[in-house]
Amino acid sequence: MAKIHWKPGTMVYPLPAVMVSCGEKPEEYNILTVSWTGTICSDPPMCYISVRPSRFSYEIIKRTGEFVINLTTEELAKATDWCGCRSGSKHNKWKEMHLTPEPAKIIKAPIIAESPVNIECKVKEIVELGSHHMFIADVVNVTVDGRYLDEAGAFSFAQSKPLVYGHGHYFGMGEKIGKFGWSVEKKKTSVSQNKK
Ligand SMILES: Cc1cc2nc3c(=O)[nH]c(=O)nc-3n(C[C@H](O)[C@H](O)[C@H](O)COP(=O)(O)O)c2cc1C
Repeated sequence: MAKIHWKPGTMVYPLPAVMVSCGEKPEEYNILTVSWTGTICSDPPMCYISVRPSRFSYEIIKRTGEFVINLTTEELAKATDWCGCRSGSKHNKWKEMHLTPEPAKIIKAPIIAESPVNIECKVKEIVELGSHHMFIADVVNVTVDGRYLDEAGAFSFAQSKPLVYGHGHYFGMGEKIGKFGWSVEKKKTSVSQNKK
């Protein structure tokens, strides 16, 4: 089958679907779901979210200069979708989705207690790209739920069952295929094989 040219579009997949929490005071705490998000620098650790200015959360994030990226799980799939279909201008998403705001360590925006990983971010720059404005941010603290740590203290993807998003559909992550670098690892040869 020949390759077909499509018009330019947002085809990168899969994506995370995260819940971004924001707000300085409990009365204004809000959550919006975001897929245009990711890591953009290792050192210093930096992340971005791209948000349409029409979102209720947009002004809150712009004014406070803070937000939390709360990673999601298969269990949180319904809340993630709901928080991305309803606006905080009309709903208290915390109450309606039974999500719990808890104090973050460094910033005033709350973390979502039910999320396995909370990434506290301070906005460094806003880039007005077009439909979306990109909030480029420093990661100032990360909180990990101890339930998802393995015996070695590493974060266990398998245990957390992350939620994956692609072209309008949610998925689980499936089976592990390899680990970083396995494709270039030298094959271990046993002593007996070497003697042959
Ligand atoms: C899976 C998913 C991903 C989304 N990704 C984004 C995104 O990256 N940027 C954005 O501005 N809105 C995104 N949205 C839409 C907002 O989450 C949605 O408009 C939400 O109701 C905004 O809430 P607010 O008005 O309370 O801020 C997404 C929605 C869903 C369901």
